[in-house]
Amino acid sequence: MSHAPARPLRAVRSGPLRGAVSIPGDKSVSHRALMLSALAIGESRIEGLLESEDVMATAAAMRAFGAKVARGADGIWRVAGVGTGGLLEPEAAIDFGNAGTGARLTMGLAAAHDFATTFVGDASLSRRPMGRVLQPLREMGADVLARSGDRLPLTLRGAEAMAPIAYRVPVPSAQVKSAVLLAGVNIEGVTIVVEPVATRDHTERMLAGFGAEIEVAAGGTGETVIRLQGLPKLRPQHVVVPGDPSSAAFLIVAALLVKDSDLLVRNVLLNPGRTGLLTTLREMGADLAIENERSSGGEQVGDVRARGSDLRGVVVPAERAPSMIDEYPVLAVAAAFASGRTEMLGLGELRVKESDRLAAVARGLAANGVVCEEGPASLSVDGGGVPGGGTVPTHLDHRIAMSFLVMGLASDRPVEIDDIAMIATSFPNFLDLMRGIGAAFEEGPGATALSAAAETD
Ligand code: S3P
Repeated sequence: MSHAPARPLRAVRSGPLRGAVSIPGDKSVSHRALMLSALAIGESRIEGLLESEDVMATAAAMRAFGAKVARGADGIWRVAGVGTGGLLEPEAAIDFGNAGTGARLTMGLAAAHDFATTFVGDASLSRRPMGRVLQPLREMGADVLARSGDRLPLTLRGAEAMAPIAYRVPVPSAQVKSAVLLAGVNIEGVTIVVEPVATRDHTERMLAGFGAEIEVAAGGTGETVIRLQGLPKLRPQHVVVPGDPSSAAFLIVAALLVKDSDLLVRNVLLNPGRTGLLTTLREMGADLAIENERSSGGEQVGDVRARGSDLRGVVVPAERAPSMIDEYPVLAVAAAFASGRTEMLGLGELRVKESDRLAAVARGLAANGVVCEEGPASLSVDGGGVPGGGTVPTHLDHRIAMSFLVMGLASDRPVEIDDIAMIATSFPNFLDLMRGIGAAFEEGPGATALSAAAETD
């Protein structure tokens, strides 16, 4: 989003990472909390909202649709909603910056209203496919004028009489499922979504929490069938947002990789649709413990303790991908330090994230001397340690930035990333938190080259 000059940063080999930290709120839950609060009648309170660029774009969008959204001095966000079907036409284009979840879920909301909404975003978001969301919304009756290939900028116009549909989600995507449900909740009738492969279910849980009539049932051959009654009267809620497991992932992997580390990450969301990385790391031999497991605001949470571990390569099955889709970049980093080969399968969706993550990870690994093989939808990494010394282009992708900084904390030579700016989209205090537990970073370009030269002297 910013046009400021790039700020490169190097991560350097660090001593043990220790301490107990709390991480910011979950991004998926934060977006949804703002959206459903905007649809409730009365004032909702959101505690622990992730205050990152992506989520702030959604807060601004809900304001543009007529909701009142404000942060109190106590850090609690208050949202006065307008009721289902009651959004107002935005006066200007809505800029979602880098935020795919914000943009796609809001398309669902907007499509159910008889007015035009224009969506714009940064270069990364403008490259990402929106057709997967627009197709079911068109089936419901919305009109879309988009750049070719259904990319942003685009203008979406809901019809006066939108029709609910029964939709089978063709790609495993919580964003597509959620866009259809968020359209469905704003129109009359019953919307049905069939998910052949289960994805994160925060939208369904939160809709139920706000008082919607929603039924989730197991269909044939492992499908999930969701039935949602349109135009419910949603009741304002006090939402407590748990810590983001996709952010915790960077700290957890860093602690596993840096020898003698002992780190407690508090209040991590442990929704079964999000815990694939923890399962995989355990299979790799990670010393991980879940403490203080409890339920909070309709979600499972716990504290995760990670200690320095010797990891070994594993095969990560394709069916696990939806439960750890955002964690493959940092898992690939862990794999580079593990003994033996790690094979990750079913990664097709990584190609349409904030960057082509499969290509970006493979290039970043190779730039740091790690042998890997990139398939159309797979990645294998030969572990055993990381020489480092490379510079990694982040391609406007926060998770590429943070993953390779984690790599540099345990590699032989520093690892540099070309720009830290995008970290603010999901984890604004990442660097402070990391420094607080003992991670070492160096600013300014060129020191990687200098330290490489020093070693060859
Ligand atoms: C998200 C769903 C996932 C994930 C994204 C957040 C969500 O995207 O990668 O970071 O909050 O619904 P897809 O739906 O494209 O898999």
